[in-house]
Amino acid sequence: MHVVLGVTGGIAAYKVALLLRLLKESGHDVTVVPTQSALRFVGEPTWAALSGRPVATDVWTDVHDVPHVRIGQSADLVIVAPATADLLAKAAAGLADDLLTNTLLTARCPVVMAPAMHTEMWEHPATQDNVATLSARGVHIVPPASGRLTGADTGPGRLPEPEELFAVCERELARAAAPSDQTAGGDPAAASTADPRADLAGLRVVVTAGGTREPLDPVRFLGNRSSGKQGVALAAAARDRGADVTLVLAHGEVDPPTGVDVVSVSTALELKTATETAVAGADVVIMAAAVADFRPAHYADRKIKKTHDPGDPDAAPTIELVRNPDILAGLVTQRGSTPRPLIVGFAAETGDDTGSVLDLGRAKLERKGCDLLVVNEVGTDKTFGRDDNTVHILRRGQHEPVADLGPAGKDVIAHGILDAVVAAVTTG
Ligand code: C5P
Repeated sequence: MHVVLGVTGGIAAYKVALLLRLLKESGHDVTVVPTQSALRFVGEPTWAALSGRPVATDVWTDVHDVPHVRIGQSADLVIVAPATADLLAKAAAGLADDLLTNTLLTARCPVVMAPAMHTEMWEHPATQDNVATLSARGVHIVPPASGRLTGADTGPGRLPEPEELFAVCERELARAAAPSDQTAGGDPAAASTADPRADLAGLRVVVTAGGTREPLDPVRFLGNRSSGKQGVALAAAARDRGADVTLVLAHGEVDPPTGVDVVSVSTALELKTATETAVAGADVVIMAAAVADFRPAHYADRKIKKTHDPGDPDAAPTIELVRNPDILAGLVTQRGSTPRPLIVGFAAETGDDTGSVLDLGRAKLERKGCDLLVVNEVGTDKTFGRDDNTVHILRRGQHEPVADLGPAGKDVIAHGILDAVVAAVTTG
């Protein structure tokens, strides 16, 4: 396969030399297209020696060969790593002022971008908007990892390890090489707008989203602050990646996406019934809903009066609660020893005296027995209702997270979670 490796001007360019080596060792032809700033970090001889090919650095060399068009047209995959904030902005705007941006405009193959930059630059709304635009156009954004940055500072913005980027490239190439029902003989206009990441094609995915409401009387309920945004973003992302999606949707602030089957529910018990029905024959279940752990033991048919005790006008009623079933744990039990469906749970944790957010997540994964657990840190100003999110993904049997994502838009996080789902489905 012919891979174009775009390198932009970030210090993480040095890590990309190893990605080039991995691509070459697995038999790919790689054309490296570094920007001028990238060459200040890692020079042309390194790229030429490792790729075994001349390095294409500008649109004015070998003009007879029309490199600004040919390189993109002939690629089976383009990966840009690291992708700076500047490159993301240019690509989102469709600028073409150097060889790499020209290549991006002419490429019709899958495109992967691995942003890496300082946390402030990554979190800036301009960068996040550009990432959302590129992601909506079908660019596979590999979210940056959290950790040590150039200096002593740490935070999200690190380029993921070369092995991880290599695995993404291999998956994209395998997917692109596989015959796809989606585009074959289909409407070419629809095909050109379809997300090129059809790595969930042929899979049935069930997503639960939103917060349940447990009624107390005809006007009151016990609820929670879930907006449903992350679950809805997951359903939309899974649809874009070719899955047949059922969204079991409780209460929230966002409308369901088009192109998915929606089952509306209100209470935990309704969500349980709907999910158990939807799960039959499903390949993946993602339990993003915030399910109430308790519900009122008694439902009052009539509105509970403020002054319910004639002998004591200031008395307040005591509400007795009963436990709701743990739907996620029930799905794990019901699945037994069969590999399908792959079950993904969510954990909203604040961390406490008994352990960090990750420690609590590990214990929850153990308790629930699901395959992946998406752990997010919550607090009064975090996660609920916001458009961005920060999560760690734990996989059963592995101590360290398989991915640390964000802060990033919930649509980018959704794709990062689906990357982990695809990896888990592929490796069993
Ligand atoms: O135990 P906790 O509520 O923190 O677990 C969260 C995960 O379990 C989420 O995936 C949520 O959808 C699921 N859950 C459930 N049934 C419950 C409570 C939570 O399936 N009663």
